[in-house]
Amino acid sequence: MKHELVIVLDFGGQYNQLIARRVREHKIYCEVKSYKTPIEEIRALNPRGIIFTGGPNSVYLDNSPRMSKEIFELGVPILGICYGAQFMVYGLGGTIGKANDSAAAEFGRTDCEFDTNSLLFKGLREKSVVWMSHNDYIETLPKGFRAIGHSAKCPFGAIEDPERKFYGTQFHPEVNHTEQGFDMLGNFLYNVCGCRGDWTMEEFAENATREIREKIGSGKALLALSGGVDSSVACKLMAKAVGSQLTCIFVDTGLMRKNEGDEVEAAFADSGVNFVRVNAGERFLGKLRGVTEPERKRKIIGEEFIRVFEEEAKKIGKVDYLVQGTIYPDVIESGAGDAAVIKSHHNVGGLPDYVDFKEIIEPLRLLFKDEVRALGTTLGLDEKLVWRQPFPGPGLAIRIIGEITPEKVAILQDADAIFREEIANAKLDREISQYFAVLTDMRSVGVMGDGRTYDYTLALRGVSTSDFMTADFSRIPYDVLEKVSVRVVNEVGNINRVVYDITSKPPATIEWE
Ligand code: XMP
Repeated sequence: MKHELVIVLDFGGQYNQLIARRVREHKIYCEVKSYKTPIEEIRALNPRGIIFTGGPNSVYLDNSPRMSKEIFELGVPILGICYGAQFMVYGLGGTIGKANDSAAAEFGRTDCEFDTNSLLFKGLREKSVVWMSHNDYIETLPKGFRAIGHSAKCPFGAIEDPERKFYGTQFHPEVNHTEQGFDMLGNFLYNVCGCRGDWTMEEFAENATREIREKIGSGKALLALSGGVDSSVACKLMAKAVGSQLTCIFVDTGLMRKNEGDEVEAAFADSGVNFVRVNAGERFLGKLRGVTEPERKRKIIGEEFIRVFEEEAKKIGKVDYLVQGTIYPDVIESGAGDAAVIKSHHNVGGLPDYVDFKEIIEPLRLLFKDEVRALGTTLGLDEKLVWRQPFPGPGLAIRIIGEITPEKVAILQDADAIFREEIANAKLDREISQYFAVLTDMRSVGVMGDGRTYDYTLALRGVSTSDFMTADFSRIPYDVLEKVSVRVVNEVGNINRVVYDITSKPPATIEWE
């Protein structure tokens, strides 16, 4: 079935994915496309509306991202945000002032007034706080436009050409700091574009199930199940669609968190699919013996994982389809450039070279993480797996600093379980983006009972982040940290000191290795 579609045209802004998520929160399907997308492609997609994102450039720079002016002749409503608004004004014959010409630059919280006669602000308060972040500013408007919002410094804080259904905001309605931003986007989508809102996970599940069945027919599919949210939801969806035609291979590396292997097994063993659990803990630990260098650990685990998977897949024979839990943020074609590789991330999805199959199926490739979770809930997946925080492919191997031994794995599993339990008791488990314990290789002196101890230091890490590219350390209350510390030192052997990591990313990374 064809959904209503809104296109977010990415001009290299930092909030492009956030805009797309907001649109989807309004139950409207949305795709992010690069500003380089040919106009014919956009026309063929037949969007209900287009949103131009912000971007780091000035419209006057030679290399600033530009789109063919034909975009304004499609007859499709457009909302330009920040650079997007400036690009629209510039493209339609208005002028943009350079910030160094004046003191018009604005950053951060700004009071703004709106004309609530405009469809964009219909039903909203006339005054509220918005989030500005711009150097350049709209100086004169193109024909047909008028101001519908202003701040003390910015006479054209929001503009409209209602005839052509073009709207622009100098501020960012997509960020939480803009008080009525979510409703403004809703007004654009529903009042201006005339959307109805047909994007729900129930409908997605129905359609996806039907499409998967049509595609697979009587063929066989194979899925590498890591127990992470994405592969678990993909498995559940495939199970609903094709049941026993699917085989899931779950490689238990022995480096998972406490009881995690059993939880994954419990969630899938009776789900109608062929479920294969490979207990490869000893094999992985054998390969890792004596290894201390983080990148080496990652490589060894990545390679071994593929080997185990390949051996199991061979036993099954030829399969027609390999299922991967790729999600939308992985596939977005962005206007922005390449990033440096800081760590070689091992993702258990990356297996295609080694398995004999005809085609790859990625049933979640249109979904954002929160939608994947919602789909998991719709499909009845165990809440523990739905709300599982991200867990790196190499598992506890990169949370044990230095050499990995079975004893250290057990120590860390126990300590980490206590940390997670106390975070859940404090009802912080859905608030903190990721939290875990790290077993350092540092030992220090302590005193327990009347005796001297010389034991390991455990580090706790908790971060809040929306994209895991940058992160801030979580302000976990001291009394929660204290409970964890007391319990860890009392209940887990070989730890006599607990510290909390208060570095953000950058300069640190989230994981310690
Ligand atoms: P860093 O440590 O790079 O982590 O700040 C960012 C996010 O990625 C996760 N992570 C991984 N995920 N395979 C994965 O699938 C990996 O090798 C890997 N290493 C780190 C990390 O847990 C955090 O969420």
